[in-house]
Amino acid sequence: MTASRARACVPAADAVARPILKWAGGKRQLLPELRRFYPARFDRYIEPFLGSAAVFLDLHNLGLLRGRRAMLADSNADIIGCYRAVRDAAAELVAALAALEVSHRRRGTAFYYEVRDRRFNPARRAHGPDGPGDRRSAAALAAMLVYLNRTGYNGLYRLNARGDFNVPAGRYAAPRICDEANIRLVSAALHRRGVSLVLGGFEGVLARGRPGDFVYIDPPYAPVSPTSRFTAYTAGGFGADDQVRLRDAVVDLAVRGCQVLLSNSTAPEIRRLYVEHAPARAAGLWAFEVLARRAINSRAAGRGPVMEYLITNVTPRPAPGARGPAETV
Ligand SMILES: C[S@@+](CC[C@H](N)C(=O)[O-])C[C@H]1O[C@@H](n2cnc3c(N)ncnc32)[C@H](O)[C@@H]1O
Repeated sequence: MTASRARACVPAADAVARPILKWAGGKRQLLPELRRFYPARFDRYIEPFLGSAAVFLDLHNLGLLRGRRAMLADSNADIIGCYRAVRDAAAELVAALAALEVSHRRRGTAFYYEVRDRRFNPARRAHGPDGPGDRRSAAALAAMLVYLNRTGYNGLYRLNARGDFNVPAGRYAAPRICDEANIRLVSAALHRRGVSLVLGGFEGVLARGRPGDFVYIDPPYAPVSPTSRFTAYTAGGFGADDQVRLRDAVVDLAVRGCQVLLSNSTAPEIRRLYVEHAPARAAGLWAFEVLARRAINSRAAGRGPVMEYLITNVTPRPAPGARGPAETV
């Protein structure tokens, strides 16, 4: 890595850590609504469906995680491997990403497919879910994920039946690939004492919730219609059975005295699982309808505003400009 390549990174002007990855279901658009539900007091922070880490970074930026432990988890090994490299090897990652950016500017789509098929997928297969043991290779793999995410079609993450990443190239004139300043801010957020990154399914993580913890839960959404299913986050998807197991775990957390906030679609399935489920109500869980804008959808028509559920046992602050209490369903 040469100094001139490193200079290909354009530092961001502000000091707010933003998600490095674009992620389907990413919560940046919903943050103003979610903030009303951040509890005034809590012990640890737990986020079992981390994705782009938008909510963790928001809490960090607001100073709400100071002096608190945070357990961040996802079942996607590429994501957790990427964040571990951001945390432990930011300089190497930035160098590798800057080099990818230089080559992309020169060779565009042909380079995207070369990285995807001749470097990224073979390296993933060779290392398996635990990722590479050494820092340099871990940083190289993470840089490739960020590069493919920022230049691939719609920022999608999709695997084929063999488990290979198979998203086609996107059509961006000048995609922002290496934002060194932001990578360093996210690295610092992840590097704080008491922050842990866990690779694993939600059940093991939620079982560790203790009274007073704040748990933000953002699973793959239940489809609002049979054609809208989007469950390609992992090779296995997230089906109706998973939504039921998650509901049971959420009720259990509320009963145990955790402060829970869950987002999901307003699919009839979710209404049945939470709104019409007596044990959920008895555990103090309420559903609020909020307006969200979907950032990633393969069809432009699917990117407009939609209603979503926030299901929680936290009493929300009123919406700005609202005269009465928040609307529940
Ligand atoms: C809706 S996304 C989370 C988006 C995130 N809140 C954000 O702002 O970007 C759902 C995440 O759940 C993860 N996931 C899917 N199935 C899972 C499971 N069984 N256990 C844990 N994580 C899972 C996916 O890898 C994906 O990152």
